[in-house]
Amino acid sequence: MAHRWTPDLKAKDVTDEALFLNRRTLLAGIAGTGLGTALAPPALASEELEPNSWEDITSYNNFYEFGTRKDDPKRYAGALTTKPWSVQITGLVERPGVYDFEDIMKKMTIEERIYRFRCVEAWSMVVPWNGFELADLLDLAGIQSSAKYVAFETLYRPEEMPGQEMFVLDWPYVEGLRLDEALHPLTIMATGIYGRDIPNQNGAPLRLVVPWKYGFKSIKSIVKITLTDKEPPTSWNIANPREYGFYSNVNPEVDHPRWSQASERPLGGGLFARRIPTLMFNGYAEEVGDLYKGMNLRKFI
Ligand code: MTE
Repeated sequence: MAHRWTPDLKAKDVTDEALFLNRRTLLAGIAGTGLGTALAPPALASEELEPNSWEDITSYNNFYEFGTRKDDPKRYAGALTTKPWSVQITGLVERPGVYDFEDIMKKMTIEERIYRFRCVEAWSMVVPWNGFELADLLDLAGIQSSAKYVAFETLYRPEEMPGQEMFVLDWPYVEGLRLDEALHPLTIMATGIYGRDIPNQNGAPLRLVVPWKYGFKSIKSIVKITLTDKEPPTSWNIANPREYGFYSNVNPEVDHPRWSQASERPLGGGLFARRIPTLMFNGYAEEVGDLYKGMNLRKFI
């Protein structure tokens, strides 16, 4: 399968935030030459998103395997061993097996995407991810024609993930996507942020990012991917089916049973930062709207 991302800087070329920001200025400078357009990620075609700081992105997290407070992941995730790491790809695939993370990385072109990230709790941030399209990973295993869904599973290792000793969620954390959602070019496996390896608290060494869905769909530290013909169970839906559906598309018109989803508070602007209106499909409606044509989005939450 051809890579749909244009070649971009490799993680090793971007060593810090300053350099990264410099490069963005550079990109802006060459916009209009054709080259700039080719390099711009699709979600950026019509707008400039200002990324949150490294500090914001890596110190205010949800990763319940390390505790339920926003600062728990940063404090405790350092204990997680992420080398070696492998991902089992199984189910309705041509080449089921255990894929070594380093081998996967050698086969993928690591690109950068700047995405809006909207948490169901109504805060949001903008993250410059590095990674590759999920479609390209699934292609390694070869999708069988009967596959309709993709199920994901996080590592289960209570010795290193103390939150798994608590009964907050059914462990391991599981998530799922319809196959067409999984194959959409905006759906990525992130392995870095700001050109650095992704920190443990953000889901090292690889996590899903689906920018038009609420953040909890973006499952972290994945060890297993299963292609299936049945809608897979998902952690938050198991925990509270009334509040969390399988789709969980960002939708300002459909409120969470306990709060409005019409606006969001961008992180990094201080405690009293202005709320901004939330956009349909988190601003990616043009790209993904067709996936849900004819579906009642009040029913399929
Ligand atoms: N993945 C696992 N394994 N465990 C989790 O608790 N939390 C989810 C999602 N992925 C979670 C997870 C939620 S609720 C959100 S909002 C995002 O991760 C947060 O990602 P971030 O910490 O990188 O911002």
